[in-house]
Order: sequence, then C-alpha cells, then structure tokens
Amino acid sequence: MASEPTTVTITGGGGQIGYALMFRIAAGDLLGPGRPVRLRLLEIPQGMRAAEGAALELQDCAFPLLREVDVTDDPLTAFNGARIAMLVGARPRTAGMERGDLLAANAGIFGPQGRAIGAVADEDVRVVVVGNPANTNALIAAASAAPDIPTDRFTALTRLDHNRAVGQLAEVLGVPAGEIADVIIWGNHSATQFPDVDHAILPDATPVREALAERLGGEAAAAAWLDDTFIPRVAKRGAEIIEVRGSSSVASAANAAIDHVRDEQLGTHNGWTSAAVVSRGEYGVPEGLVCSLPVVSRGDGKGYRVIEGLHLDDRARGRLAASVDELVAERDAVRALGVL
Ligand SMILES: NC(=O)c1ccc[n+]([C@@H]2O[C@H](COP(=O)([O-])OP(=O)(O)OC[C@H]3O[C@@H](n4cnc5c(N)ncnc54)[C@H](O)[C@@H]3O)[C@@H](O)[C@H]2O)c1
Repeated sequence: MASEPTTVTITGGGGQIGYALMFRIAAGDLLGPGRPVRLRLLEIPQGMRAAEGAALELQDCAFPLLREVDVTDDPLTAFNGARIAMLVGARPRTAGMERGDLLAANAGIFGPQGRAIGAVADEDVRVVVVGNPANTNALIAAASAAPDIPTDRFTALTRLDHNRAVGQLAEVLGVPAGEIADVIIWGNHSATQFPDVDHAILPDATPVREALAERLGGEAAAAAWLDDTFIPRVAKRGAEIIEVRGSSSVASAANAAIDHVRDEQLGTHNGWTSAAVVSRGEYGVPEGLVCSLPVVSRGDGKGYRVIEGLHLDDRARGRLAASVDELVAERDAVRALGVL
C-alpha cells in the first residue's frame, strides 16, 4: 500500500546545489526506497525559471517515489506541511561586502523563512541550513520560528567538512573511507572550524592518531601533518575546489546535505557524525549558539543527540574556543541588527 508522501522543501531550488539535491531525493536517497516524497521548491522571482526547468526534468525522470513537485516564490506555500526543510538559497558574499552586510542580507532571508516555517510547516519539521553563513542563518531561522517550532529542530550543515576530513584521512592511511569512524568537526562552518581526529578509530579500534604516526614516521610528524596540512586543507577545501574546478562545491555539498538528513531521520551507523546543532551548553559552548558538535541519531524521530563527556586536551579546547568566539561575534552582530 502506498504511504502518504513526505513533504520536502528545498530553498534555492533553481540553484546549483538545489539541482544536485532534488534528483537524489526523488530517487529515494534521502528517506529510503519505501517513502514517497512531495517536493516543494522555493525561489526568488529571478530564480523561478531555473527551478521550473528543473521540475520539468524531474517529471522526465518518472521517479516512482516522486508524487508531486511545486515551484513557488511564496515561503508560506513552500513550507506548507513541510516535514523536511533544506534551506539552501542564501545571499552570497559579493566584492566589498563586510561580514555585517552579509549577515544583515541573510537575516532578511532566514528571518522570514523561519517565521513561515513556524506558521505552516509540520509541527515535527526538521530543518537543515546549507546556505552560508550556515550556523548563524540557522540561529536566525530558529529564533524566528519560535515558539511554534522548538529551536532544536534547526541544524546547520557541517557534514561536508566531516566528509572532507574522512576523505583526507582515508587517502593518507590507504583505507576505505567507510573504515574511519568518530571524526569530529567542532565549531563554525568556516575557516575557524576544528576538524578533530583525536577520538577517531579504525575498525580494529586502532586510534587514527596511532595509524597516522605509523604511516608518517612518528607522533611528532603526525601532529605536524594534522596541524599544518590536514586542518587547513579541510577548513579551506571549498576554496581549493573553486580553484581547481572553476566553480564551488555542488555535488559534494548536496551529498553531505543528504547524509545529514538521512542519518538524522534513519539513524547514524558508523559511530558518530558531525552536525551544527543548537547548543545546550555542551563542552562550554554558550547555550543557544548553533555549533558543530559530535552527534548520533537513533533514527527514532528524536533527531540528533550530542555525544557528551569526550576529553578535550588544551590544543582541542583552544581550537574549539577560537571557532566559538567567531560564532559569538556573528550572533552579537545579528543581535546588534535587532534580528534576535
Ligand atoms: N554548509 C556547506 O557545507 C555549504 C557547502 C557549499 C555551499 N554552501 C552554500 O550553499 C548556498 C547555495 O549554493 P549554490 O551553489 O546552490 O548557489 P547558487 O547561487 O547556485 O544557488 C542559490 C539559489 O538560491 C536562490 N535564492 C536566493 N535567495 C533566495 C531566497 N530568499 N529564497 C529562495 N531562494 C533564494 C537563488 O536565486 C539561487 O537560485 C550558498 O550560500 C553556499 O555558500 C554551503
């Protein structure tokens, strides 16, 4: 018997990541092969034709799980009954734009979208913000949807950073990516993020740090590689992709957004993963900030749960604090605009 379709809303449906996302979702990659979906694509008027064109292509795929596609520039129509909302469309930074201008422009997008989600989305909606600056955009959307929707339903994407970190380790260690568990991205989805392998392990429980030391010629060499090569490469991988490909990360970003929602909905398997979630004060992160932390999901409908009690040494605490300082500064800048 066919089940009721799940409504998935994608903002920026006429953009690059939106385009990469929708076909995979319609093919069943987000919620599994037994769950039909209804897609709602939100755009601004300038992006409507591109989104409408993508909708025509979706029709041409004749996906068995795809029940309906709506394209709209009205947030109240787009989020009506949404169970999953993927907020991808954002105002990009343009030449000469200060951080404050960027935050203000995005507050003008994520504030109204948060209010629309509060007004019309399914009461159990789960929201992932992809559009940058993702953590603070999620903070704004969550504050704007409250009190109708609990703030913990809002998350931001750091899974791409997590996957990038796993990919780098897999290459250096010469093992399949699926064999590396318990990597963590801490902090902001920005150059201040802290990709942390101190708790990461291989399938036989060998610490990744130990395997790196063996591979790279000792503990000191492994530590130097982590600080001088691995961390900056993961944190600045977006710029590397632009330089090599001539265009920003698209398929990998869409893939990470799908990983994020799928694991949140269906459960994490290989240890924990990373997601930016609303802090409840874990690891000294100020309550209410949207900060990337180690998380797991049991796939029981309760969303991501933060892994608590991990030991952080001074190096790790210092790196996390630097990224949290940036999140605090972004929050304060948004507060100064009167948005929060
Ligand atoms: N968190 C991450 O890991 C990550 C990774 C890659 C990209 N990103 C971010 O994702 C965002 C989208 O990237 P892209 O490559 O798809 O960009 P893009 O420019 O191709 O597409 C963005 C789309 O959003 C639309 N849009 C703008 N404002 C909107 C609004 N108010 N409502 C609905 N739609 C709106 C635009 O018209 C455009 O079609 C960017 O902010 C980018 O920086 C985040």
